[in-house]
Amino acid sequence: MKGIIRVEQQFTYQAQKGINTMSNPDVVKIFDTTLRDGEQSPGASMNTGEKLRLATQLEKLGVDVLEAGFPAASDGDFEAVAKIASKLERTETAALARTDKQDIDRAWQAVKTAAKPRIHTFIATSDIHMDYKLKMTRRQVIEAAVEAVRHAKALTDNVEFSAEDGSRSDPNFLCQVFEAAIEAGATTVNLPDTVGYAIPDEFAELVRYVMDHTPNIGRAVLSVHCHNDLGLATANTLAAISAGARQVEVTINGIGERAGNTSLEEVVMALHTRSNHLPVATNINTEFIYPTSRLVSMITGIIVQPNKAVVGANAFAHEAGIHQDGMLKNPMTYEIMRPETIGLSTNKLVLGKHSGRHALREHLADMGYDLSEEELAIVFKKFKALADRKKHVMDEDLEAIVNEGILRTADVFALEYLHVSAGTTVLPMASVKISISGRSVQGAAYGNGPIDAVYNTIKQLTGADCQLLRFSINALTGGTDAQGEVTVRLRENGLVSLGRGADPDIITASALAFINGLNRLEYLKANPVKARQGL
Ligand code: KIV
Ligand code: ZN
Repeated sequence: MKGIIRVEQQFTYQAQKGINTMSNPDVVKIFDTTLRDGEQSPGASMNTGEKLRLATQLEKLGVDVLEAGFPAASDGDFEAVAKIASKLERTETAALARTDKQDIDRAWQAVKTAAKPRIHTFIATSDIHMDYKLKMTRRQVIEAAVEAVRHAKALTDNVEFSAEDGSRSDPNFLCQVFEAAIEAGATTVNLPDTVGYAIPDEFAELVRYVMDHTPNIGRAVLSVHCHNDLGLATANTLAAISAGARQVEVTINGIGERAGNTSLEEVVMALHTRSNHLPVATNINTEFIYPTSRLVSMITGIIVQPNKAVVGANAFAHEAGIHQDGMLKNPMTYEIMRPETIGLSTNKLVLGKHSGRHALREHLADMGYDLSEEELAIVFKKFKALADRKKHVMDEDLEAIVNEGILRTADVFALEYLHVSAGTTVLPMASVKISISGRSVQGAAYGNGPIDAVYNTIKQLTGADCQLLRFSINALTGGTDAQGEVTVRLRENGLVSLGRGADPDIITASALAFINGLNRLEYLKANPVKARQGL
């Protein structure tokens, strides 16, 4: 890449410019926004219990800053941010706010109990956003940024300012805004490629330009935040690190609005694997990358594409004979990272019906799940039931059990009973019993196939008026006794949710996925988003 300066030059450059890398020049801060920008992926809403579970896992992973949400957006966001703030011990908890005082006060109310609170305020700085969206002049935008940072600074020392659509902003104006924000007290200034428009050498050049032309940049950490519309988010982020950025904003599995955000695992493993080229460390415990990726996928219902770098199902699979031969002789012939480094256990065969509670607890802990006694009891019961139906219970099966038994808290609807008759000569019919907020109801309906019959019955019982936008089914593991994993995408009155369910019986898995999607719609209805404009 033409624009990426060599590493030795880069450190001299940083020293000359007095770049503030917050005590250690060789460490880049990982700012995780899975719970805020990531949650903006269509259908990826998470409830407060799920967010708390994920926040705990992200702290274990070692992220430096966790953006927990946008408290002014909805009461649900506020509640989740407040709960996460009181839980995190080592990780900074950030809350997003537009530049108006009410947003900032709301953000502060949510994070003020945090061990390390941060307020993150933003306003757009590109001409197109200022003219058409904000209808504000450059001067007004600078004033808004300064007032917002000052207001936030009166509440906490730790203030981040973002220049939304920074990559398409006039570089001189960008530097003026950053200078003013730092003067007002910002300790981090963030340069987002909001629409995923940048090209790596150009983005690196912009980072260097900002460092050269923002006189007080040495008093703040320069951060970048990239989107993946052209598939360049990771490349742009790495180019920015090479050019001197010392905070990167990322999400697990790269989830996020449209094509998503920069993926945490790609940036971290690129730095880890290519430290000879990019000698910049992170505080990430890489062995928690894979469990965290699975947890995000389980919670959000967003499946990781099989060929996804680092965490995809095929990322460490070697099919070609010549590769397999080389791997047997020396894994480094074709493998640039070890699966164990990201916490991918090679010993996937787990437990059978004679396995005890202790073995289950140990194995779940290896997979990254630390369960309470009460949670373990729930999982153990479900595990025993599955082991009676399936000889070998694999990691994927356990994940599905943990997801359904533990992570799905506060559900309105739950499946109690299901019977279906279908075949070549009968009209498919389902008889279903579900509980609605603890009260059991049952009914029956026909359909043009068994799944249609089940869904018609559930709709009848719940009064749901949703459209099924997508239905997909997958085997969780190999073998004909594998559990079927169903994912659905539902839409009702403009709200979109994803649902997921797993069971050795695919009709039951389909019912569980549908019910999970309906529960997520209920959560969205109860937590209307008031303000996400501009994001
Ligand atoms: O993409 C973006 O510009 C953002 C900002 C709020 C940082 O998400
Ligand atoms: Zn973003």
